[in-house]
Amino acid sequence: MSGFSSEIRLGDEGAERAGDGSYEATARIVDAAAGEDDAAVEAALRPRRLADFPGQTKVREQLGLVLEAARRRGAAPDHVLLSGPPGLGKTTLAMIVAAELEQPIRVTSGPAIQHAGDLASVLSSLAEGEVLFLDEIHRMSRAAEEMLYLAMEDFRVDVVVGKGPGATAIPLELPPFTVVGATTRAGLLPAPLRDRFGFTGHLDFYEDADLEVILARSARLLQVPAHEEGIAEIARRSRGTPRIANRLLRRVRDWAEVHGAGRVDLDAAGRALALFDVDEVGLDRLDRAVLDALCRRFAGGPVGLSTLAVAVGEETETVETVAEPYLVRQGYVSRTPRGRVATTAAWEHLGLAVPEGGQPELPWSDPGRLGD
Ligand SMILES: Nc1ncnc2c1ncn2[C@@H]1O[C@H](COP(=O)(O)OP(=O)(O)O)[C@@H](O)[C@H]1O
Ligand SMILES: [Mg+2]
Repeated sequence: MSGFSSEIRLGDEGAERAGDGSYEATARIVDAAAGEDDAAVEAALRPRRLADFPGQTKVREQLGLVLEAARRRGAAPDHVLLSGPPGLGKTTLAMIVAAELEQPIRVTSGPAIQHAGDLASVLSSLAEGEVLFLDEIHRMSRAAEEMLYLAMEDFRVDVVVGKGPGATAIPLELPPFTVVGATTRAGLLPAPLRDRFGFTGHLDFYEDADLEVILARSARLLQVPAHEEGIAEIARRSRGTPRIANRLLRRVRDWAEVHGAGRVDLDAAGRALALFDVDEVGLDRLDRAVLDALCRRFAGGPVGLSTLAVAVGEETETVETVAEPYLVRQGYVSRTPRGRVATTAAWEHLGLAVPEGGQPELPWSDPGRLGD
């Protein structure tokens, strides 16, 4: 249906805004948080059921079991915590949990719950069996956290009536419900809250083959013709992240429609990704800025995360949750007790000579790398 396709198109103006080639603009391609434009497209591309969710085999099987068992018992399942870097499918899985349980889902997030009262009003209006999705759960206030873990355990909240010395807490029974929490930083959750989740799934970066499946499906939904090699090239350069894969697909589609043959093929993929500063191994400008600062400004480290973040002009949390996990995973950066350190691969990727002392394991004698 052309209606479907143009609807998606409408919300998809990222390329125009990203056109000035600035650092910010490119960061948008891989941003942790989707803008409102992106949100509409992302929603349209989300798989709805567990069986349509490629990758994350372990988490998918475990979660499937938890949900199926609950369904057979006719009871609400344990609370579910999903952790992992942005764009790997936490929100998607939360929606899937509700769909598989055939229950409605209430969506809110840590930053939206600043007072315990905000949470009390959400909790006290939940229907039996309903799924409560708490995104960015690590950003809730302390008082709300406490109320939440008591509610998760006892299905009860204390509603405070009145103010000052005359205030009284009235316990309110809640029907059983299921919390699905999502966080990019599971380590920040206080232990009592973490312990209330009967199931924790940690999402890891995707294999290229899984990203290819996701991209082929997205191309179908976006109604853009795609060749296997084009899809494979995008998958290979998407940092193991479905959100990035889907965004790059849209940029390649844009390129193909304006300059190319209107289809996602190897040529269009290569040219569009170059235009948007996605390099051969899929690193974007933020990734490279981090590596560059680490190697050039701090001589390979060790350097503290916040210092590194200041050097690239980003929030510490962005560097920590968006850039670093993939750089560590791909072996460009290692975390040490004294700070972040560039590996040999980082120097090589930037085309820099690896310093003596700093990287003793290096095959130093290769004169080809000593040029600059
Ligand atoms: N396993 C997957 N299969 C297909 N699409 C996925 C998958 N995981 C994520 N996506 C897509 O990537 C985008 C971001 O996923 P999302 O669930 O919002 O990530 P998170 O909440 O972890 O940041 C969505 O558009 C979603 O459709
Ligand atoms: Mg999310």
